[in-house]
Amino acid sequence: MKIALASDHAGFGLKKGVFDYFDQKGIECKDFGCGPDERVDYVDYGEKAIQSVLSGVCDRAILICGTGLGMAMVANKFKGIRATPCWDEYVAEVCRSHNDSNCLTLGGRILPLDEALHYVDIWLETEYEAGRHQTRLDKIAIIEEKNFKP
Ligand code: RB5
Repeated sequence: MKIALASDHAGFGLKKGVFDYFDQKGIECKDFGCGPDERVDYVDYGEKAIQSVLSGVCDRAILICGTGLGMAMVANKFKGIRATPCWDEYVAEVCRSHNDSNCLTLGGRILPLDEALHYVDIWLETEYEAGRHQTRLDKIAIIEEKNFKP
């Protein structure tokens, strides 16, 4: 699985920690920025990473800003993206098993690296359960379709 990574300045440090961790573990990833010592708008970097998922270059995305909230807001504007902020073990698990999250968003100003890596591992390892959850995702997809303006 190839992971798209992106952050703004508030998420840069945590993103670097995740990037280094993936490097050590041999998990394929692509960093879409930002770089160090920049002040940027999370919107621009979140969009680049999400485009790589939509085009099939990457399979899922991890987006990091100060809180994980702005990145989730951006990512969820894109059809087919199910972005979920994450702050504990339970959320890391059910965002996959119930919500089929394909984009994890993390807060660089609220999560220490070791905790964030633990949640990333859970998110990578947990399978989507489908079943009753698919009915709900199908309903979300219908709303998305009805409101889609190309
Ligand atoms: C940047 O200061 C901060 O607003 C941003 O990283 C993020 O937390 C937005 O949701």
